[in-house]
Amino acid sequence: MRVTMIGAGYVGLVSGACFADFGHQVTCIDKDSRRVGALKRGEIPIFEPGLAELVEANVGQGRLEFTDQMSSVAQAEVVFIAVGTPSRRGDGYADLSFVYEAVREIAPQLAKTAVTVTKSTVPVGTGDEIERILREMRPDAELQVVSNPEFLREGAAIQDFKHPDRIVIGTDDPRARTALAEIYRPLYLNAAPMFYVSRRTAELVKYASNAFLATKITFINEIADLCEQVGADVQDIARGMGLDNRIGSKFLHPGPGFGGSCFPKDATALLKTAQDHGVALRIVETVSAVNDQRKRAMARKVVAALGGSVRGKTIAVLGLAFKPNTDDTRDSPSIPLITALQDLGAIVRAYDPAGMEQAKPALPAIHYCGSAYAAAEGAAALVIATEWEQFRALDLVRLKSVMAQPVIVDLRNIYRIDEMKRAAFRYVAVGRGGAE
Ligand SMILES: NC(=O)c1ccc[n+]([C@@H]2O[C@H](COP(=O)([O-])OP(=O)(O)OC[C@H]3O[C@@H](n4cnc5c(N)ncnc54)[C@H](O)[C@@H]3O)[C@@H](O)[C@H]2O)c1
Repeated sequence: MRVTMIGAGYVGLVSGACFADFGHQVTCIDKDSRRVGALKRGEIPIFEPGLAELVEANVGQGRLEFTDQMSSVAQAEVVFIAVGTPSRRGDGYADLSFVYEAVREIAPQLAKTAVTVTKSTVPVGTGDEIERILREMRPDAELQVVSNPEFLREGAAIQDFKHPDRIVIGTDDPRARTALAEIYRPLYLNAAPMFYVSRRTAELVKYASNAFLATKITFINEIADLCEQVGADVQDIARGMGLDNRIGSKFLHPGPGFGGSCFPKDATALLKTAQDHGVALRIVETVSAVNDQRKRAMARKVVAALGGSVRGKTIAVLGLAFKPNTDDTRDSPSIPLITALQDLGAIVRAYDPAGMEQAKPALPAIHYCGSAYAAAEGAAALVIATEWEQFRALDLVRLKSVMAQPVIVDLRNIYRIDEMKRAAFRYVAVGRGGAE
């Protein structure tokens, strides 16, 4: 099928490349002409494992192209919208200006029977407004609007896109269903469940899923706090809970609080939707508030590990991206952690394998280093903020030799307590009562 993707970011670029890999003819349109220029030169503007190879192969075989020109929308049978929906400044509602702008831009170009599909995460009812705009601008056409929220995870995006737990399709229209079934046919053949629901339901499934996952993380984080007080080990508790099939082991990893480009903003946007409809989502409200406080509280953990003050001390932070295998630092827990350490007078040296450029606007006054060991030089403490593979087996002897003091604050629990004891590090982890 002929598919157009509006927005070539984390979701649009991965989805576009995967659709092309399924055999569809895909054009990715992005209004950022520098991004399009880079893509045309074969440069991938984001860090996502496997993406460069996938894009190169599909461009080479003539199924994937990039442009900043909307005119190419005219040939598409299906147009996906995958532009950003960040939190609106000031009030926390989802900022839908990019979505509506894209809709107004594609409307004059759309073929008369084109299907428009929202892949961006949008509040319930957004599809109705998109349909209203399209009908107003194109009274001549029989346009359909579908919700098809995306569940991929950055860092494992291609695997997730090609092996999804489910594909949610929100539409009551048989023609639109057929078009989406055709697009996803290769996955359907692989037995990925196609879950057909109403458009409003599809929009809300996405928010409910993200809010639930955020709740699981926050739950185990609070249990971790309790573990620290009572001398229990949250790692074993998470394992003990996760072995229960009704609970499941995923998203039970304690840490510095959830971040990233989705969970925080989606939880807030869901709360706004609920408030507008007179419904109190108290669990999500609490999750959001607890998580906000937690990020800065991690700085107090570092202060405590250093005996009550970080003023004038150098702190090494490993990891700026909100999780491993991505360069995305949007709402990364490292940012409030580092800002708080700076507020308390610390000098911060940091290293991240992929996210340093992205972190610079939010963290202009830290020392960006070329490796974990370079960051550790002269540090009174080393904080592991993101669990990149390369941080899992650091040479502890080398680390100790360059640091001012042997103190590690492991906010991702990636080291064994006995290992740290043997290496004579003061080791502070999350929710492991016996760590110190
Ligand atoms: N990042 C994720 O892991 C993820 C996962 C699932 C869902 N989502 C959702 O998908 C959506 C996109 O997220 P993202 O992380 O890919 O965003 P992003 O910021 O990485 O990419 C958005 C792209 O859209 C482009 N754009 C904006 N307006 C445009 C327009 N009018 N025409 C053409 N291009 C335009 C921007 O230039 C940018 O390149 C969001 O709603 C997000 O919540 C994201």
